[in-house]
Amino acid sequence: MRKKFQLGLIFGGRSGEHEISLLSARSVMVALDRSKYDVLPIGITHDGHWLSGQDVLEAFEHGQVEDLEPVAVLAEPGLGGLFRWGEGRVLEMFHSLDIVFPVLHGPYGEDGTMQGLLELADIPYVGAGVLASSVAMDKCLFKYVMRANHIPVVDWTLVLSTQLDENPDEVYTQAEQVGPYPLFIKPANMGSSVGITKCRNRSDLLQGLMEAARYDRRVLVEKGVDAREIEVSVLGNEDPQASIPGEIVPGDEFYSYRAKYLDDNSELLIPAPVDQEIAEEAQRMAVQSYKAIDGAGMARADFLLERETGKLYMNEINTIPGFTKISMYPKLWEASGLPYSGLLDRLIELAFERQEQKDRLVRIYEGTS
Ligand SMILES: Nc1ncnc2c1ncn2[C@@H]1O[C@H](COP(=O)(O)OP(=O)(O)O)[C@@H](O)[C@H]1O
Ligand SMILES: [Mg+2]
Repeated sequence: MRKKFQLGLIFGGRSGEHEISLLSARSVMVALDRSKYDVLPIGITHDGHWLSGQDVLEAFEHGQVEDLEPVAVLAEPGLGGLFRWGEGRVLEMFHSLDIVFPVLHGPYGEDGTMQGLLELADIPYVGAGVLASSVAMDKCLFKYVMRANHIPVVDWTLVLSTQLDENPDEVYTQAEQVGPYPLFIKPANMGSSVGITKCRNRSDLLQGLMEAARYDRRVLVEKGVDAREIEVSVLGNEDPQASIPGEIVPGDEFYSYRAKYLDDNSELLIPAPVDQEIAEEAQRMAVQSYKAIDGAGMARADFLLERETGKLYMNEINTIPGFTKISMYPKLWEASGLPYSGLLDRLIELAFERQEQKDRLVRIYEGTS
């Protein structure tokens, strides 16, 4: 029998999406094929402490983490696993890790920081690498990369929180030049609609800017588009595939945090009831943008389909999309013929493929051949 992989499942984390990560991790944990993987759960607290041990996910779900074991991954290649703090604060090996599945959303997880640590430690991991993660996380940089690739995005301007402190009047003028109200204000590096406000007038704008600046020093002001929301799942490394598109029908005025997680009146339509032409355009744009940021493993590409013009705008790419059993990313694959636990196996395979590719690279200059 083939040896089981020692798989570290990381969840929680230092982001406003900590709780969402626990929900995603619960589904992944249940569905991972135990004949192939020994699963080691690793939780990261809101303060950034890494904890492992018995029933870690349950402990995080109940907010009772006192009895867990403090652990660490070290930025040193070849150590092959997770360490714990022993007697006298001496590090000792806790568990070996063949692969890590970071089920973390938002900053310090989906933004390239976790990926950077795993790169340094030389541990294979599921999903995008450092570059794709950080470009996809920063909504402003992402739009620049899309523009450079002629992929349509909604007009925007970037404001720094220091500008807002020092010269608010200038910021209002800059923001209102983006377009007529409504305007959408967003922290550049966030997700789950945390810190996002739809602004109808100057007073909303003021509040929206303050709210977004609580979460990030970089804030986007974006032209509001009256649009349907279309999403496509992408899977693969260098030859990524697109799923059929789905549509989100938000139960709130826009797809807010409340509409995503608190109320249950938002709807997922699978497949999205759009013309074949639009479906294919969304799939093409999803793959093109994934390649443009050097995506790997997986990502969900989200579009705004303007009602009046039928124009498709790339809104964002999520490199670690919501992963509960009822989330759009796995549902779209299921509807495209790949069930949830098969999807997990494929993601793990893709992570090993990427690691093999990296292992083949020359790290020392050997002259030209
Ligand atoms: N420019 C826009 N016009 C209209 N609606 C928008 C716009 N930007 C965002 N939204 C709404 O806000 C939601 C969250 O914005 P998004 O950019 O996807 O951020 P997040 O990363 O938090 O999901 C979208 O799903 C959509 O409902
Ligand atoms: Mg979104």
